[in-house]
Amino acid sequence: MNEQIIQVKDLTFKYEPAKNNTLSSVSFAVNKGEWLSVIGNNGAGKSTLALLLIGLLKPQSGSVFVCGMPLNEETKWTIRRHAGIVFQNPDNQFIGATVQDDVAFGMENLNMPVEDMRQRVTEALELVGMLEHREADPSRLSGGQKQRVAIAGVLALHPDLLILDEAFVMLDPRSRRELLATLKQLRAEQGLTILSITHDMNEAAASDRILVLKNGSVANSGLPADIFSEEMDVEAPFSERLRRLLMSKERRTPESYLTESEWIQWLCK
Ligand SMILES: Nc1ncnc2c1ncn2[C@@H]1O[C@H](COP(=O)(O)OP(=O)(O)OP(=O)(O)O)[C@@H](O)[C@H]1O
Ligand SMILES: [Mg+2]
Repeated sequence: MNEQIIQVKDLTFKYEPAKNNTLSSVSFAVNKGEWLSVIGNNGAGKSTLALLLIGLLKPQSGSVFVCGMPLNEETKWTIRRHAGIVFQNPDNQFIGATVQDDVAFGMENLNMPVEDMRQRVTEALELVGMLEHREADPSRLSGGQKQRVAIAGVLALHPDLLILDEAFVMLDPRSRRELLATLKQLRAEQGLTILSITHDMNEAAASDRILVLKNGSVANSGLPADIFSEEMDVEAPFSERLRRLLMSKERRTPESYLTESEWIQWLCK
């Protein structure tokens, strides 16, 4: 059986006792090396789920296993060494006076030789395409550059699990594609597992599996092709919207979701 790096069982959470559940009985697992996209409307509970996964919030009931450990007050620090998280708004994530100080910050508690730290900072900044800005003042960077530095800070820790909460929203389309390719490479080379919360359906379409959250519950989970064929209220990628449009006009249509390259094959048939 595949090694599971995240195991969530019957997770229920509410922000205030008198309020309704923000998450109700959420269960799912993520295999080592898998790329899972978590999608769902605004307010579905995606960010809340991310905070629960690294122990920044405490559930009312249910259990979370991350990197083989049950998440609790004792294990949460160890888990955070293995699981890095990057949020949507990078402004709250900066502490250092320069970009490289900032990337090094997370490593400072790991008692690592300075030379190793330097090397990791260089590697991580290179991976996100920010090496030339290593001496820059992080507060002066653009939104997308800040996001890339925040991602470098997490990658420098060599995490087993990377949790991205809309961490690419400020990136231009090309940087987004490049960074996704870099992460895919890290996954192939190092078995990095990725849980990416996203509203970008092209990104979700390129991942291994999609988990759909609706009103705090898991509404569906499966291969991108199945999710986009089944979930009609999900804003599908362009290729699927085209298929649905043709279908509505009763034109010759592929039977199910196709990727862009599958479309080309289909059209040339
Ligand atoms: N700190 C908080 N206190 C009280 N309620 C909160 C808090 N944070 C979020 N909520 C509520 O919990 C629900 C889920 O919010 P969450 O941020 O997890 O949604 P999301 O799926 O990440 O949405 P988005 O796509 O907009 O980022 C929302 O109804 C939100 O108003
Ligand atoms: Mg959110």
